[in-house]
Amino acid sequence: MRAELARRTAGIAAVAAMLVTSGVVIATTASPAQADGSTLQDAAAESDRYYGTAIAASRMSDSQYINIANREFNMITAENEMKMDATEPSQNQFNFSSGDQIVNWALQNGKRVRGHALAWHSQQPGWMQNMEGSSLRNAMLNHIAGVAGHYQGKIYAWDVVNEAFEDGSSGARRNSNLQRTGNDWIEAAFYAAREADPDAKLCYNDYNTDNWQHAKTQAVYNMVRDFKSRGVPIDCVGFQAHFNSGNPVPNNYHETLQNFADLGVDVQITELDIAGSGTSQAEQFRGVTQACMAVTRCTGITVWGVRDTDSWRASDTPLLFDGYGQKKLAYGYVLDQLNTADGGSSDPGDGSCSVTATRTESWGDRFNTVFTVSGTDDWVVRISTGSGQSLQNSWNADISGTSGTLTATPNGNGNEFGITLYSNGNTSTPSASCSAA
Ligand code: G3I
Repeated sequence: MRAELARRTAGIAAVAAMLVTSGVVIATTASPAQADGSTLQDAAAESDRYYGTAIAASRMSDSQYINIANREFNMITAENEMKMDATEPSQNQFNFSSGDQIVNWALQNGKRVRGHALAWHSQQPGWMQNMEGSSLRNAMLNHIAGVAGHYQGKIYAWDVVNEAFEDGSSGARRNSNLQRTGNDWIEAAFYAAREADPDAKLCYNDYNTDNWQHAKTQAVYNMVRDFKSRGVPIDCVGFQAHFNSGNPVPNNYHETLQNFADLGVDVQITELDIAGSGTSQAEQFRGVTQACMAVTRCTGITVWGVRDTDSWRASDTPLLFDGYGQKKLAYGYVLDQLNTADGGSSDPGDGSCSVTATRTESWGDRFNTVFTVSGTDDWVVRISTGSGQSLQNSWNADISGTSGTLTATPNGNGNEFGITLYSNGNTSTPSASCSAA
């Protein structure tokens, strides 16, 4: 990996302290971001991920806004302009003017587009809001054919269905007019989208699905598992990730993303914003970034707007640029984390070497973690396993211990080694520290 090589040859960033934020083990660097990627899109590209934003057509004439968007982001979502009310204001009379403005700008500037959103209980045009039954089902299918057909070949991923589950503990579908057309409305929407644009990735997108323990998360997971088992054409799950003090970044975020990915879908963070300011906000942004980077199938992150003042909840100052277009502390934390490229935790130990830990494959009861040591060929790596986890296998190093703290030393196979841990319900990535032998 380019970032990793650059980091090694640069003599390793000065890592000052280990922090545990929202349960995600992260490393803080005393130095500013490495030079690998100086913008969010370039830094994300180090690990073949994208970094996106939502764009509002009405703001595109603001030069500060559009310049930041162009410089920093390479995945674009229309904040409102491709929704049902915008694109089909009268039944079967489509209007793509604002959506096209955003999509054309994105494509002309070498960016990709996330389509948002084909079927949703909210922001329906007036004519649709009072419809029910088979006429509504047909209208939804016609809408999907019309909109996804218009943008066919231009969309990286569509949010085919948005927010179809209840909040709270019920795990039930949201009681919307679309739901009342029959429980199969979601899969019908996915089949229609596949037919209209066979090359777009098709996503289910929702909020409050970040905490693995929550009933809504479990309900969406069970739906996706069912869809995959029956061959319903779903390719990805979007996690909106609107966080605030009442809904903070959960400790188990990485676990949630990984569990969905293990169903055989990509996962994407689609509408990220985090209320707050300063270090606390920045650390939460970094935790989210690291959680995505630790999951191979987490293909990218989109923040829901450019500057705080552009946000749908501006008073929460939840974005990466302030109202003057200046980079906030959270921006630097995100950039630093993206530039680690492997997304693993790292700790310098005694300063003479460093190690990164990257979670790779996982199965029902176990998962792999790969460790990469730099700075010396004669090292001792101490690995802290999570509660309940125990060693099942290892390669390319001698390992002592089976749970708690494991000690790894070279066995003649270089500076990259791996372990398989039984998870026992705990899929958090183990942390590691390195010292020279
Ligand atoms: O365009 C009209 C304008 O003509 C009018 O003067 C003004 C007066 O209020 O309203 C403008 O429309 C507003 C529109 O945003 C554009 O700014 C709507 O009232 C307002 O309801 C709408 O809010 C959007 C919201 O979705 C609606 O549900 C937000 O911008 C948008 O950020 C938000 O995005 C959603 C995602 O699609 C799905 N996930 C949640 C997320 C946040 O709610």
